[in-house]
Parts: sequence; structure tokens; C-alpha cells
Amino acid sequence: MTEPVKVLFVCLGNICRSPSAEGVFRSLVTRAGLADQIDVDSCGTGHWHIGKSPDARAQEAAQRRGIDISGLRARQFSSEDLDSFDYVLVMDRQNLADIKDIWHQNGGTEPALFLEYGNSEHQEVPDPYYGGDEGFEMVLDLIHQAGEGLLADIRGRLA
Ligand code: 4NP
Repeated sequence: MTEPVKVLFVCLGNICRSPSAEGVFRSLVTRAGLADQIDVDSCGTGHWHIGKSPDARAQEAAQRRGIDISGLRARQFSSEDLDSFDYVLVMDRQNLADIKDIWHQNGGTEPALFLEYGNSEHQEVPDPYYGGDEGFEMVLDLIHQAGEGLLADIRGRLA
């Protein structure tokens, strides 16, 4: 059997956007029957929340859509992730600049904005941390839509 395709979602804290993306995309992958062919993970560029559960608001918003992200724990991005993941997908331009700095030194998989796989007018997943619940709903809408596009891209790779 061939190696699974490995997907990494990256945000700043790894407690709001990227664990939500991990949970939503894993559920799309599972529903597509591809769980043994696609590995999904997430991390943050920052160190502040290492070891923490996703933000309670992110957990609740995901749960309202039947997705349980309570078991995820934050970890920090490492340059080795660029060697081990096939897709390194970031939430905003600041994440992109931070990871690109490391990529220029390290090589490996070039990071990209996750929403390049979506077809809305949004190019970034806005940071919901300092806002209200509607920000978390918008995060889920954007990542669900881009997740469908990403899954189609990976299917092409697996075919
Ligand atoms: P995330 O959101 O990058 O989507 O996990 C944030 C979480 C924490 C902070 C900022 C953004 N913070 O400043 O602590």
C-alpha cells in the first residue's frame, strides 16, 4: 500500500483555526472513506498554547456541526514538518510569512494559503480569538468549503 498523503494545517495559536480545520477536514476525509489514505494534523507558529485543548468556543462551534475536536492538543510548528508533510496549509498571510522564512532556510514542502483551495472571495481565515461566536462560525464555513476543494485535489493525486 502507498504511504498516506499528509496534510498539516497551521495557524498562530493552534487553539482556534487550525484545530478546527483538522477536525473538519478529518471528518470530510472519513466521510469520503479515505481515512487510511490521508493523515491530518495541525500546529501553531507560536508557543503560547502548547499542550492546550482547543479554545472552548472553537470546540462548541465544531460540536454544533457534529465534530469533536476536544481531544486535540496544541503543538508548535517545527522545520521538520516541511520535510514530513505533503501539504502545509496556513490560515493567513502572517502565518505564510512566518513559515516561508523557515521554508527559505529549510526547503521541503512550500507552504500555501489554505483558502486557495476554496472559491470564495476570502483569501485568509480571519483570527476569531478576540471576536464573538460568529467569527467561529465563519471559520468553520470557510474551512469546510476549502476542505472540499482540498479533498478534490488530493483525490487527483491518489488517482
Ligand atoms: P488561532 O487563534 O491562531 O486560530 O489558534 C489564536 C489563538 C491565540 C492567540 C491568537 C490567535 N493569542 O494571541 O493567544
